[in-house]
Amino acid sequence: MMIFVTGGAGFIGSTLVKHLINNTRYHIINIDKLTYASNIESLDSVADSNRYYFEQVDICDALALQKLFEKYHPDAVMNLAAESHVDRSIDGAAPFIKTNIVGTFTLLETARAYWSDGAKTNFKFHHISTDEVFGDLEIGDPAFTEKTSYMPSSPYSASKASSDHLVRAWGRTYGLPILITNCSNNYGPYHHPEKLIPHIILNAIHGKPLPIYGDGTNIRDWLYVEDHARALTAVIEHGVIGETYNVGGNTERKNIDVVHMICDLLNEMRPIEGNYRDQIEFVKDRPGHDRRYAINASKIEKELGFSPTETFETGLRKTVQWYLDNESWWSKILGEKYNLARLGESA
Ligand SMILES: NC(=O)c1ccc[n+]([C@@H]2O[C@H](COP(=O)([O-])OP(=O)(O)OC[C@H]3O[C@@H](n4cnc5c(N)ncnc54)[C@H](O)[C@@H]3O)[C@@H](O)[C@H]2O)c1
Repeated sequence: MMIFVTGGAGFIGSTLVKHLINNTRYHIINIDKLTYASNIESLDSVADSNRYYFEQVDICDALALQKLFEKYHPDAVMNLAAESHVDRSIDGAAPFIKTNIVGTFTLLETARAYWSDGAKTNFKFHHISTDEVFGDLEIGDPAFTEKTSYMPSSPYSASKASSDHLVRAWGRTYGLPILITNCSNNYGPYHHPEKLIPHIILNAIHGKPLPIYGDGTNIRDWLYVEDHARALTAVIEHGVIGETYNVGGNTERKNIDVVHMICDLLNEMRPIEGNYRDQIEFVKDRPGHDRRYAINASKIEKELGFSPTETFETGLRKTVQWYLDNESWWSKILGEKYNLARLGESA
């Protein structure tokens, strides 16, 4: 099975590629533009596999995509390529509109032309999206289901919502065999330092302030990234064409509690004279900050037998340990164009 993974040099994409390559039936073509958010070194362990191929291509480039379809004849596309950081989308939405909407459209059109030629009868287009398309919840509201109406708040989530609508429309109008997944916040190794959990770990060990938006009571529903990769594999293998699956870890946590847990793990794993919690600073809230996300993932559990293997406690411990052990991975990112003072919470 020849699978295109777009955005395979990003956080979730690289984890997915490493997960899929363990199955000897799969050949993986990683299609990535290599933006600032990518890190090709995250794929060092698979780079020499004769079932792994890398193509540096922008998903907005129709001609380049067409050539890749002709070259590899894929059985499936898993579309993860995206601009993914909410704060950056507030600073400047243009790249989000371009990649997340126009890029998805371009990929859909190229896939449709390839699929309608009849080259592959079992072709699938799996679009990977976020729970942020549903907007936010108040405390006590039921968790998002696959039937929850879309109400995105940020330029990022609005661009992802648009891409989901396009994918659904290409399924309904043209019959393209599509699948969509909407997942809650991921965390784990190889996560870009601009995102909340790595940002807090790295600021903490550098003795810098740990910035928390507002009063820190915003709630996110966390899933360990390798569990997300397992869920995506279950969907591409067994998902029913045309269906949407919510993916989540049933792990709602207030941001302040997440930061406290990281501080407590660091107090234990890399002790300092004081307490890492003393570095916490509350800062002006993000505009339009969603209050709470919570995913009801019972459909994928019942229909595809997926449930997470990591609890938040085990996954967070592994994550903190990974950042302590892998300075060579993150130090280059911090050394280049990255500003550690930037706030970190996102998708
Ligand atoms: N991180 C989360 O918590 C989360 C949760 C749910 C869904 N998602 C979705 O999963 C996907 C992957 O998220 P991530 O956190 O791994 O993102 P990421 O920012 O770490 O990686 C995105 C990757 O896409 C590539 N890319 C960007 N623009 C491209 C383009 N025009 N053409 C080709 N490649 C391009 C980048 O180079 C990068 O390697 C995204 O679609 C995101 O919306 C993320």
